[in-house]
Amino acid sequence: MSQGKKVSIIGTGNVGATVCYWLSMRKRCREIVMIDRHGVVAHGKALDILQATSPEGSHTQIYNSTDYAMAANSDVVVITAGSPRKPGMSRDDLLILNAGITEQVIHEVRKYAPNAIIIMVSNPLDAMTYTALKAGCYPRNQVIGMAGILDSARMETFISQKLGFGYGQVTASVIGGHGDNMVPLPRYSSVNGVALADLLSDEEIKEIIEQTREGGAEIVGYMGTSAYYAPANSVVKMIEAIISDARAIFPCAVLLEGEYGYNDIVNGVPVVLGAHGVEKVLELPLNLDEQKQFAKSINSVAELLEILRKNNFFTV
Ligand code: LAC
Repeated sequence: MSQGKKVSIIGTGNVGATVCYWLSMRKRCREIVMIDRHGVVAHGKALDILQATSPEGSHTQIYNSTDYAMAANSDVVVITAGSPRKPGMSRDDLLILNAGITEQVIHEVRKYAPNAIIIMVSNPLDAMTYTALKAGCYPRNQVIGMAGILDSARMETFISQKLGFGYGQVTASVIGGHGDNMVPLPRYSSVNGVALADLLSDEEIKEIIEQTREGGAEIVGYMGTSAYYAPANSVVKMIEAIISDARAIFPCAVLLEGEYGYNDIVNGVPVVLGAHGVEKVLELPLNLDEQKQFAKSINSVAELLEILRKNNFFTV
């Protein structure tokens, strides 16, 4: 168990607060700081979560502030800050608004916690991860987008629901961007070592792929707001791998530097997570169809970055 670690969470909406709750229950770090411009509500959430830790015997201390100075010496900073889409707002409006928020947040984080590993959660995820990297002039190992673990967890859930057995034994792999063009990889998915293709028909696998791609939107449809339990769990998995230097393989959104044939763009790929953040980027031998899907996913992220460039982002 890692002692003495500090994690800061920027934005204490549903995802941020749930990360704080779950991480403190897991007793993996000494200190969690929640930073939010809505100080009073964040204070209430911090106090509520702190009061949940005592019966659990958790030593994790929880603080909140509107001041980024409190994030000093963090090992990991999780960025969930961003605006949800409001009526009358286009996707591009939201993109530009959240990229502006990400830049402001990164400048503060960089000032007080320059060595922290950054986990990006704000959407659109791949574009915001790229924005954070550029705004902070970070090396790519230091800024990692959370999405692949979540999308894989959704695929795993749909596989076990379809099978009716193997719950908790499914390992699924989803790469590509966190959007409609994500790339679920049935070839890299199995149930305790048994290949998916030996358990399900092509038709059933196709349905699972569609369900996975729609997974986030399905929950918004039911709840009127984005998912947060599964996203928060995915963030906590990443934090734990980093603070314990686990060197574990997870699909994450990272800057590609030649891997899969792409440069200077963020997309989801399997990486090794450890104390330095991204320790290694793994290149899977994709077949032709998988390569085509990956290219489509890269293109949709490239389109978003183009809109940001036209609006004067990434000029320095
Ligand atoms: C989702 C949001 C968190 O996929 O992006 O649920």
